[in-house]
Amino acid sequence: MKDLKDKTCFLTGAASGIGRSFAFALAKQGMKLFITDIDTEGLEQVKTEIEQEYPEITVYSMKCDVSKLSDFEEAFKEFNSKLGDVDLLINNAGIGVADTLTNIDLEIWKNVLDINLMSIIYSLKVFLPHMLERKSGHIVNVSSGAGIFGSSEPLPYITSKFAVVGLSEGLFSHLKNYDINVSVIVPGYIKTNIFDSGIKNSNYDPKMLKDFGREKLEEVYNSWMENIINSAMSPDVAVRKYIRQIKKDQLYIFDSAFIKDILALKGKTKEYEAFLVNYQEMQAKDMREHFHEHGINIEDYM
Ligand SMILES: NC(=O)c1ccc[n+]([C@@H]2O[C@H](COP(=O)([O-])OP(=O)(O)OC[C@H]3O[C@@H](n4cnc5c(N)ncnc54)[C@H](O)[C@@H]3O)[C@@H](O)[C@H]2O)c1
Repeated sequence: MKDLKDKTCFLTGAASGIGRSFAFALAKQGMKLFITDIDTEGLEQVKTEIEQEYPEITVYSMKCDVSKLSDFEEAFKEFNSKLGDVDLLINNAGIGVADTLTNIDLEIWKNVLDINLMSIIYSLKVFLPHMLERKSGHIVNVSSGAGIFGSSEPLPYITSKFAVVGLSEGLFSHLKNYDINVSVIVPGYIKTNIFDSGIKNSNYDPKMLKDFGREKLEEVYNSWMENIINSAMSPDVAVRKYIRQIKKDQLYIFDSAFIKDILALKGKTKEYEAFLVNYQEMQAKDMREHFHEHGINIEDYM
């Protein structure tokens, strides 16, 4: 889709981070927007700011909890009555998680899979039949570097994001004959609020919680995350890169060479295996050292 002007877009997770930057950047391109999020206050703020900056742009907003099919059904009806057919469907909403390997709560697995994966399946359930009928449209799913290589991130997050990559590849091959494009974005670290959501969605080891209290653990974890966030890319910069690649109808959309290189490394089995283990160990070592600096022997709780 080379020209986005006057085309329609349905976007999830638009109140913050990458979604928010997408909303502004697509308004700048002249798209008609339907932005959604579970955070209605943040969403309204984005809508108001876009209307101030781009008064000529049509922008509708609506609450849509992506973990609920019924919310997608309602949002689709509203979208359809306001804007008609969808040209660009961006499944962006997602959450992080910060659990350790040994403390994976089933509720957390379910929540992460519902929000990061089932959301896209629900979105397809309502939008895809209409795209197939029209034989047009572009679906963009936001995965992660954690959907390309399984190392260092918590297992539920890796699992959800690998599934998004697989789903996107499958859609890409199945939908080419219908003139429907599919892209999957695999971000590296982007400076957004996802790192806070990771902390909120996590349960610490019960013994560690008892010994140090949630406040202290969050403080230490937050300061560790801060180091990562400080070196992360701004979402505005990342989204400019994504839009350039969406316009080229690319399947994989990157913001950093690092993740591209890892994809290439996958063919070299032994090198790739060594990379996975070394990366995990390097991140775990950094985290251990950080917790030690704050008086916590994290390895006692693993
Ligand atoms: N920031 C990064 O470093 C990074 C890296 C890789 C992938 N990603 C992916 O990018 C996407 C956007 O994340 P972000 O970094 O902008 O984070 P963010 O937390 O800044 O924004 C996520 C948005 O999703 C919304 N959301 C959360 N749960 C929802 C639900 N149930 N229904 C509807 N909306 C919901 C939040 O309210 C928020 O506005 C996610 O899919 C994330 O996994 C981010």
